[in-house]
Amino acid sequence: MKFKDVYSGERVTRKFSNRKVSEKMLARVINKAQQSPSLLNSQPWRVYMVTGDALSNLRKDFEQNIKDGIKPHEDFATILSLNWDAYPSQSLATMGASQPYFFNNKSELFTNANDTMFNAQDVAFLTIPKASPAWSVFDLGIFAQSIMLLALDEGLSIMPAHSMVSYPELVRKYAQISEDELVGMAIGIGYKDNSAEVNDPKYYPPRLPFEKIYKLVK
Ligand SMILES: Cc1cc2nc3c(=O)[nH]c(=O)nc-3n(C[C@H](O)[C@H](O)[C@H](O)COP(=O)(O)O)c2cc1C
Repeated sequence: MKFKDVYSGERVTRKFSNRKVSEKMLARVINKAQQSPSLLNSQPWRVYMVTGDALSNLRKDFEQNIKDGIKPHEDFATILSLNWDAYPSQSLATMGASQPYFFNNKSELFTNANDTMFNAQDVAFLTIPKASPAWSVFDLGIFAQSIMLLALDEGLSIMPAHSMVSYPELVRKYAQISEDELVGMAIGIGYKDNSAEVNDPKYYPPRLPFEKIYKLVK
């Protein structure tokens, strides 16, 4: 695909079909993403691609935790404390937390998608060592974006979600991640369920006006 088509087509998918991605294709995407830049070429990331029975078992326990009302406690937990600066808070209030689902009284679409791990059949869990500088979080973000663009280039769909790392102890158990790694992010990779309402483009959220984020200083 042309880069501009891949890039402009980058939207998240909140419901996948049951079709699995081939193991070869998954490995190819991650392998290519290793080209990503990182501080001093430190490459702090590791990828645990969870699929099949391991993912089914993880999803079962994840859904049970939600039923039991267990509060999310991501390793990057402060994101949910909503201790944000006023600048991103305004985006959250006007377009982030209030996704178009909410404007359309369809919050259950968003919630159900998250609570079922988007029916993802293949999930890449991304870690960095617990002993990491903030730069490694930055590096992990770059790496994640590479994975997503490369997956889109293969004709796949993507779903980056902190909700899938809400219970890091479950991810550690089923993905076989050691205690000294931080479970940073999860990216569902797969085929979009085109019949799912939650994936309707009318729910795509807009971006801030360019003038709000850009300043040319001479
Ligand atoms: C770090 C990160 C975490 C996210 N976590 C979630 C999540 O837990 N649940 C969810 O539904 N969407 C999640 N998203 C998707 C964003 O809500 C989405 O990218 C944003 O609303 C813009 O929509 P678009 O990518 O379709 O344009 C996450 C995105 C990122 C980059």
